[in-house]
Amino acid sequence: MTEQNVLDALKNVTYPGFTKDIVTFGFVKDIVVENTTVGLMLDITSSADEVKNELIENATAELKKAGFEEIHVNITAPQAPRQMSNSVSGKNIAPHIKNFVMVSSGKGGVGKSTTSVNLAIALAMQGKKVGLLDADIYGPNIPRMMGVDGIKPEIQGNKLEPLKAYGVEIMSMGAIMEEGKALIWRGSMIMKAIEQFLRDILWSELDVLVIDMPPGTGDAQLSLAQSVPITAGITVTTPQEVSLDDSRRSLNMFKKLEIPTAGIIENMSGFICPSCDTESDIFGMGTSAAVAKEFDTDLMTRIPIEPAIRIGGDTGQPIAYHKPDSETGKRYQEAAVKLWEFIEKVNAEGLADNSSVQPTTAPGVSACSTGGAAAAAPAKEEPKAAEGESCGTGCGCH
Ligand SMILES: Nc1ncnc2c1ncn2[C@@H]1O[C@H](COP(=O)(O)OP(=O)(O)O)[C@@H](O)[C@H]1O
Ligand SMILES: [Mg+2]
Repeated sequence: MTEQNVLDALKNVTYPGFTKDIVTFGFVKDIVVENTTVGLMLDITSSADEVKNELIENATAELKKAGFEEIHVNITAPQAPRQMSNSVSGKNIAPHIKNFVMVSSGKGGVGKSTTSVNLAIALAMQGKKVGLLDADIYGPNIPRMMGVDGIKPEIQGNKLEPLKAYGVEIMSMGAIMEEGKALIWRGSMIMKAIEQFLRDILWSELDVLVIDMPPGTGDAQLSLAQSVPITAGITVTTPQEVSLDDSRRSLNMFKKLEIPTAGIIENMSGFICPSCDTESDIFGMGTSAAVAKEFDTDLMTRIPIEPAIRIGGDTGQPIAYHKPDSETGKRYQEAAVKLWEFIEKVNAEGLADNSSVQPTTAPGVSACSTGGAAAAAPAKEEPKAAEGESCGTGCGCH
């Protein structure tokens, strides 16, 4: 018996839910044949037990039919996402998304959205299936930066199709809200919006969802961390001391929410002069390395101030895609590689777990509110927790 016999037999095994067979999908690996004994590996994308069992059963049956007597079918599959609705254990309301990256900063204007956009594109260019969620409900800039502003998402039943650009699936409050209209967000509304972004958007089975957060450490961050297990947190900062103080808050938030910290991206770090291509120091350079050390994490990359970055953002032509060979384009690619390595490490060690930050209050009531008031009286401003009262995570929501 030969390897070809094995492949021929397995061409009769279709992948559950699809019309293509497992050989065509390229899932069959490491075939070892000795007389009528065969061992092989199926490297599949689903973590569902039903899929694994059906594949083992069907593959074994087909190999028997082909004349093999001793058959060993092993399966490697991604780890099953934790899906526990129990309010005191982990929770994942979007289990079809494999990894979640929270891009945070202590304050606005440091380049969080710019970083999210270019990192998402760099990951997609590296072959990952990527989504980009603009969770900055106060200032949704992603549609413009990705060149999809003004485009309304299509509705399927009661769900929304994400927009798509540069190989990245995109959703933003900016794509849903009327242009220029501001909303006043209460804590309970923020929680609902975050949940809807995860539940009611028709995201594909993404390798990673990059989430551009509002600045600071408030309700949106806490809600997100409670809704899905965040795989990696990234803090974006500029090099000045005042900005570094704010990014310490952001890094502390990751710690308190038990979010694995991938590192710091130092943005507006030095200036690349477009006419002479040399780098000069404006806000400082490399100052966040010490902060990274303080928090036992990495300075993932430094992105200089560069007119092309701002123009790329304003015109919806991100530099990672349009100038991939520029120094900055390469730095985004490098940061994406580091991020992916970090994600793999977190998954291997099972570190993305949000069980410790689950609300102890009733569902629908912000963990930062003092009680049921937010749910009972949605028209009223949500009360803040009184001095000394804590939501238990030190999430900075007071
Ligand atoms: N490295 C950079 N070089 C030049 N302009 C930048 C850089 N990073 C961000 N910008 C510009 O600065 C402004 C603020 O960036 P943005 O990503 O919107 O910040 P945030 O999301 O943190 O508020 C945008 O106009 C953006 O194009
Ligand atoms: Mg922004």
